Amino acid sequence: MEPWANLHQPVMADELLHLLAVRADGVYCDATLGLGGHSERVLERLGTLGRLFGVDRDATALGLAKSRLARFGERFVPIHGPFGELRTLLAGAPPLDGLIADLGVSSLQLDRVERGFSYSKDAPLDMRMDSTGERTAAAILATYSESELRRIFYEYGDEKLAPRFASRIVQSRDATPLVSSAQLVELIAAATPAAAQRAGHPAKRVFQALRIEVNQELSVLERAIPDAIDALEVGGRIVVLAYQSLEDRIVKRVLQARSASTAPRGLPVELPEHRPELKLLVRGAELADDDEKAANPRATPVRLRAAERLRYVA
Ligand SMILES: C[S@@+](CC[C@H](N)C(=O)[O-])C[C@H]1O[C@@H](n2cnc3c(N)ncnc32)[C@H](O)[C@@H]1O
Repeated sequence: MEPWANLHQPVMADELLHLLAVRADGVYCDATLGLGGHSERVLERLGTLGRLFGVDRDATALGLAKSRLARFGERFVPIHGPFGELRTLLAGAPPLDGLIADLGVSSLQLDRVERGFSYSKDAPLDMRMDSTGERTAAAILATYSESELRRIFYEYGDEKLAPRFASRIVQSRDATPLVSSAQLVELIAAATPAAAQRAGHPAKRVFQALRIEVNQELSVLERAIPDAIDALEVGGRIVVLAYQSLEDRIVKRVLQARSASTAPRGLPVELPEHRPELKLLVRGAELADDDEKAANPRATPVRLRAAERLRYVA
């Protein structure tokens, strides 16, 4: 069986394709190629003149996607790099008819025990999506101050016990550096009062926070979504799938801001230069349906947002 067959079911693929309205000769970018599940569906609709640029910072995912999508020949152009540098990565590419971003980690990454993303398997605390990245989760736990740790657990993990965990980490790390996921899970479990046990794994929020910090996921997104919109042709569409509220909030903010009229209040007629740059294609965010959630639990938290570019703004 192909290595990707059981690894990653593309989330909300039918809705995504419908919203993208793929044209056979269109130019597309999948900014989060992963194992190429969404890209494969787009490529199946492209003719010989169509192109899909597939970006991923994870060289392993890119290698697997290349094999999976080899049958599309020159229609598929793989690019290794972070989507925060979309402008540079797509320099020379024509304006896009569509762009997909399916954020977060892939099941390939979660299943790669050695990356240390998972709190349920013991592994070195790495968490870098791009294994050439400079900072691992272990380095953050060893060097960040207590207040910095507290902030990332609060902000990126919404962890109410952030002060407790941060203080416990700082107290214990000189004697016993935290280098494995099992050590961190144990520390968190020991620091969680019985009365505060909540649904889900007690380490889930801390692991999420560390992953976001290691990969600078939010600041990258703040840069990447505006750049992705700028890369679109008029009539081009962007579809973004976010799995946690901080990411979704960034996507929502940028799409809403650029789909609003900039006409000053009280102006009787909207001048062309005040017309919105984008049209939202989905009211609010679209969610996966119950059947998909049951078949693919990864789809449970997803929020899909989409927009079409109406005009260029100087
Ligand atoms: C959820 S997976 C995408 C799965 C893909 N849609 C599929 O159907 O196979 C997200 C992918 O985005 C990549 N990724 C996350 N942040 C990235 C970034 N800043 N730059 C480039 N790739 C990134 C991850 O390495 C991962 O492979």
